[in-house]
Amino acid sequence: PRLSEILSLHDFEAVARRVMPEKAWAYYSSAADDEITHRENHAAFHRYVRVVKLDVRYCSKLHRPQLFLLRIWFRPRVLRDVTKVDWSTTILGHRSSMPVYITATALGKLGHPDGELNLTRAAARHGIIQMIPTLASCSFDEIVNAARPDQVLFFQLYVNKDRSITKRIVQHAEARGIKALFITVDAPQLGRREKDMRQRFEAEDPSEVSKAGQGNTDRSQGAARAISSFIDPGLSWADLDWFRSITKMPLVLKGVQCWEDALEAYDRGLDGVVLSNHGGRQLDFARSGIEVLVEVVAKFKEKRGVNFPIDTFQVFVDGGVRRATDVIKAIALGATAVGIGRPFLYAYSSYGAEGIDKALQILHDEFEMNMRLLGSRTIREIVPEMVDASNIHIH
Ligand code: FNR
Repeated sequence: PRLSEILSLHDFEAVARRVMPEKAWAYYSSAADDEITHRENHAAFHRYVRVVKLDVRYCSKLHRPQLFLLRIWFRPRVLRDVTKVDWSTTILGHRSSMPVYITATALGKLGHPDGELNLTRAAARHGIIQMIPTLASCSFDEIVNAARPDQVLFFQLYVNKDRSITKRIVQHAEARGIKALFITVDAPQLGRREKDMRQRFEAEDPSEVSKAGQGNTDRSQGAARAISSFIDPGLSWADLDWFRSITKMPLVLKGVQCWEDALEAYDRGLDGVVLSNHGGRQLDFARSGIEVLVEVVAKFKEKRGVNFPIDTFQVFVDGGVRRATDVIKAIALGATAVGIGRPFLYAYSSYGAEGIDKALQILHDEFEMNMRLLGSRTIREIVPEMVDASNIHIH
């Protein structure tokens, strides 16, 4: 289809599936094991039914399943003069034209020869922030050089077993003006993405692996496994003080999946967490970020008296975000911003730079309309009372 026929971020996926090379489609679209979490990420923004076993203390006869319906519906306000609406915001102290950032996704050149540079340039044109991945196809410096001088960039870090390599990468990133470090903590070992593993990774094409590939490659098991053997499964909370000692950049943990770890990060003085399951590519049956957000917000209030959003510790969500309404739900529940991954890959793989422009234009249009319909003129006016996220007990 022509770009003018693309109406939503979902449409890019349908096109990409048809036009992308098989290997690229397999790597971008794949998720772990039976891909249950991948499906859940998207479904969690919608209505769904969840089965929970009844506690035997209250139901001695049978382990009868109990059904819960998690729903997030809007409670809009009316008659508020929404002629002007403004969905720009501040992420870790930096302006963004919308509460969305481009999250880190590896191997950008599998889908298009310009790889991550498509994202860097689009981020500049649209005033949003890109998180550069450790495993970019383009080199880190190539990406930073393609950015405008004042463009805000974040960096996603996979921690090497050889900490001197990690130290060099982090300090180089800071020296080049990177504004925050997102340390990925949900990938001590790469998940089994069978769609990807069935494709042998032939790294003869040098465009596919960046200089950031930091270890031996086993090419028999897909792209992801071929490039990730350097990642240190020994990473622990005790390492975080070391990160503080080597950089002044804000530190955010990417891939936190329960309130206990979010609170630990907060208590240790980190700058934020991304509630994420890596786009369903790591632990299958991990919960969606939006569901974890509900839990984190409740527990921070209970245990520390914190009411999100706060500036000193920002909470982000990613996974399955496809509509401005998904973003608005996360904002209402306390998130500062959300990350979007695959839709941008599908957009540029199918249509090049124009594809991402279109994707971002769609999001801007959706923000304008939905904020008007919700009665919020600014991001700050998207308040918890505007969503109903109650768990409805139906059986
Ligand atoms: C990822 N993601 C990811 N995360 C990370 O910390 N380091 C990485 O190298 C990658 N690489 C990567 C490649 C591809 C192809 C995908 C799809 C994802 C995870 C990513 O940052 C994010 O958590 C999810 O992509 C969000 O889900 P959606 O928006 O893709 O549904």
